[in-house]
Amino acid sequence: MAISNKFLQTFRHLTRATGSGSLKTLVPRVTRPIVSAPMNGWSGPSLVAAVANHGGMPIYPIGYYTDPAKILQELKNTATLIHDVDPPTSPNNTDFLPYAVGFITFWLERQGPELLLAILRGEGDTSSSHKRPPAAYWFSFGDYRPYLALVREHGRPGSKVIVQVSTVQEAVEAQNDKVDVIVVQGTEAGGHGAQKVSPLMTLLPEVVHALHENKTSSQTLPAVLAAGGISTAAQFKAVESMGASGVVIGTGFMPTDESPGPQRAKDRLLKTLDGGVNTVRTRIFDDLREFDWPEGYDGRVLRNLVTEREAKYEQAHGPVFNKGAASFKLLKEDHSGEKADWVKATAEQDYDLLPLWSGTGVGLLKKQMSAAAFMDLLLDEEKKQ
Ligand SMILES: Cc1cc2nc3c(=O)[nH]c(=O)nc-3n(C[C@H](O)[C@H](O)[C@H](O)COP(=O)(O)O)c2cc1C
Repeated sequence: MAISNKFLQTFRHLTRATGSGSLKTLVPRVTRPIVSAPMNGWSGPSLVAAVANHGGMPIYPIGYYTDPAKILQELKNTATLIHDVDPPTSPNNTDFLPYAVGFITFWLERQGPELLLAILRGEGDTSSSHKRPPAAYWFSFGDYRPYLALVREHGRPGSKVIVQVSTVQEAVEAQNDKVDVIVVQGTEAGGHGAQKVSPLMTLLPEVVHALHENKTSSQTLPAVLAAGGISTAAQFKAVESMGASGVVIGTGFMPTDESPGPQRAKDRLLKTLDGGVNTVRTRIFDDLREFDWPEGYDGRVLRNLVTEREAKYEQAHGPVFNKGAASFKLLKEDHSGEKADWVKATAEQDYDLLPLWSGTGVGLLKKQMSAAAFMDLLLDEEKKQ
């Protein structure tokens, strides 16, 4: 992997001993410019460790947390699964754990900064003497600036900040704010994103162009990663040729062995073809989950009974669906659904009614495999072995 790659350079400080070999032999910890997205319920200690252990940069999903102690415990569990992290006393200790934590920024704003501060202090590490914080902090969906300032002020020197954007203007602002990694999310992406957003095919090259134009002569460009609908090596190469120095993948990691998602949901994803037809962007599940997402965002999911009923309802009654309790009506064909039906669907993992977040690239996912095998596939490495 050429070290000219901006993303790999960004994480070059994450070096470590090879473990079994000579302590003098240092290798870059992050060798593959693949980021696994922060996916609530679909990523966790096993997937994060699998991606880190295979040279990628996983993002641990902080998500809609309510219990900071539980998150810190999960981070400790994650740390124990990551191979070859040098003992704190080792001269090769890197001071960082090789993963990032992913915050949903508007949720962080509601909860207050305590959890972020605890993670910055390294409280998600198992070691009592030399607590290592994560290498990077990811912020999406909201104003990241107060938290960028917190990371710069309280983070260990070398801590990186990753921000996900969906417009050219947001990307330029992030560059001006000296964000280390900018993730460009196109409309193809699974899960949440901006309602008004271009396809990655046009958004990515326009962002790259704008960042070059905006750069002063003394500045280096931030690393730019592409997100949305990427499932294959050909797509990886395509975004690389448009200026991305790596990819962020959500949907592609969902049906991997290490993802904590339910097997029946993984099977459903793998059976889905024609991702542009069989996924849809909607806010209906945010209403059903009562998460009160800010205006301007929705999420891409597999079509199911709820999205079909929502579409029919909108055809009959106009584009805006009644929020709140009214959304529960869609859980039954005759619109007699109630909150209890949602609770039941959740308990039964009924994906005819629950959201199965998915990008348009779902149609290209053909079989379940390990996260490492999927990463090899993306980099065409399984052919080289
Ligand atoms: C199940 C799922 C959960 C997600 N959760 C988050 C999240 O909590 N925060 C976030 O910034 N992005 C989230 N995303 C979006 C990803 O960051 C990323 O933009 C997207 O997965 C890329 O598109 P792809 O799914 O087509 O690979 C999620 C995506 C999925 C599929």
